[in-house]
Amino acid sequence: MHLQETPQLNPVMEPLSWMLGTWLSDPPGDGTFPTMKPFQYLEEVHISHVGQPMLNFSFNAFHPDTRKPMHRECGFIRLKPDTNKVAFISAQNTGLVEVEEGEVNGQELSIASHSIARISFAKKPHVEQITRKFRLNSDGKLEQTVSMATTTQPMTQHLHITYKKV
Ligand code: HEM
Repeated sequence: MHLQETPQLNPVMEPLSWMLGTWLSDPPGDGTFPTMKPFQYLEEVHISHVGQPMLNFSFNAFHPDTRKPMHRECGFIRLKPDTNKVAFISAQNTGLVEVEEGEVNGQELSIASHSIARISFAKKPHVEQITRKFRLNSDGKLEQTVSMATTTQPMTQHLHITYKKV
């Protein structure tokens, strides 16, 4: 049973409507960082709305061979009405909760961490800064690039992935 019929997109969210949908990594994503061996991953993304002035998201990563679940995060994307100012609010299965803020310009969203909180027993090294870029490419694919700085490494790319709409 559903409590709600399919709602109309809240007009406030129109500038981010290009992110809506279910997306699957194509090809697998590339993970990198100076402290680790490069790795690949699969990822399934759901970006939806219920008519509120925000988007709901989940990013679920899987091992490319074993399909074992890996990194998972979910949250909300908000737009300050009548501006291009965006807030990205995410809870991650690693024990991290973060808020990123930035701007949407056309079909590109650039955001950077504004605050990061973590559980007391989070794995080290801790991440100190995060930046992300989302872009809808001319071939209809969604692209995400994530960089981070940790207590041991300066800002460096950690993830790059493109998704096809499914
Ligand atoms: C390692 C943060 C997303 C896979 C790490 C490390 C940090 C981190 C701080 C440790 C780095 C070091 O040891 O120097 C993050 C953050 C993410 C994110 C903040 C999201 C914003 C992902 C995603 C995957 C992933 C989507 C896909 C599977 C890994 C792997 C390692 C790693 C395989 C190395 C092994 C490990 O330490 O668990 N990540 N990560 N990460 N990350 Fe991420």
